[in-house]
Amino acid sequence: MRATRRLSGADGIAEAARLLREGGLVAFPTETVYGLGALALDPLAVRGIYAAKGRPATNPLIVHVRETADARELVSRWPPVAQRLAERFWPGPLTLVLPRTERVPDEVTAGGSTVAVRSPAHPIARQLLAAVGAPLAAPSANQAEHVSPTTADHVLADLDGRIDAVLDGGPCDLGIESTVLSLVHGAPRLLRAGSLPRPQLEAICGPIETGAASEGVAPSPGMHRRHYAPAATVKLVEPARVSSVARQLELMVRTGALLRVSEPPGGDVETLRLAGDAAGYARGLYAALRELESRGCTAIVIEQVPEGPEWDAIRDRLSRAAN
Ligand code: TXA
Ligand code: MG
Repeated sequence: MRATRRLSGADGIAEAARLLREGGLVAFPTETVYGLGALALDPLAVRGIYAAKGRPATNPLIVHVRETADARELVSRWPPVAQRLAERFWPGPLTLVLPRTERVPDEVTAGGSTVAVRSPAHPIARQLLAAVGAPLAAPSANQAEHVSPTTADHVLADLDGRIDAVLDGGPCDLGIESTVLSLVHGAPRLLRAGSLPRPQLEAICGPIETGAASEGVAPSPGMHRRHYAPAATVKLVEPARVSSVARQLELMVRTGALLRVSEPPGGDVETLRLAGDAAGYARGLYAALRELESRGCTAIVIEQVPEGPEWDAIRDRLSRAAN
């Protein structure tokens, strides 16, 4: 077990870059969630990511780059639609899946023929990439299957003693992971709903397909149903039923409620309220789930959120957390 250091500021970025260049593991903030970084082109360093997270070797990683030109060196095709999307949305919360080149190790792609690339917008992530001078493989910096971290404390709660350092950049702005879009076959295909809503993408790249591909493309391997889950039984219920469901569960186990607009259930239910708008809700969601967990709730009742594209990624994560 190694001691995990908490780094910050310009000196922290320099030290994090040094650790990474030596093959170490350093968590860093992005605009979506914290990532667990390692040199993407160093197979041994990348293996360390899987070991630290307890991540199945079948689930490939996103490679983070500073510039579009850096991404192009990792892919064997860069179609015009990739160029248009990158010009419009990079740096930002969009991950593109493309055919890979030989330079990308099997450890990154889980042996597959494609690679996921993204240019993050967070200034600390960008300064770190510049200081390292090489692409960084980085999944979300949580234990496999747990909710993604949106603060350095969340990272340490999951990975303390298992990674070299965490760069503390405060809470993440967006709070939900990037949108993952495959440009491998035919029309763009949505592999994971995320912080960038679908209509914004479609305005640039035309209609996007969803669901399991008919031929060839596997659905995003990381999208197992039980994913993004807190360590509790989660019930997703309509606003009008939140109180009755919570009060019933509370008779049996310590129960939490995650509200948006409905009235608090009262009793001994541990209650948190998130913002009514999608951006504010996304920003607070993972921290709220972790907070209810740390208050010892083994059942969590979540008020269902509205329809509409800006809620898609949130609805997706809530339905995956629910059981
Ligand atoms: O916002 C984010 O995307 C964050 C920050 C740190 O960038 N990263 C993140 O990584 O959420 P991770 O590993 O937790 O999720 C990456 C997703 C997984 O569902 C994985 O299966 C999918 O992207 N993925 C990665 N490479 C892929 C590939 N070559 N083909 C299809 N899906 C891929
Ligand atoms: Mg993840």
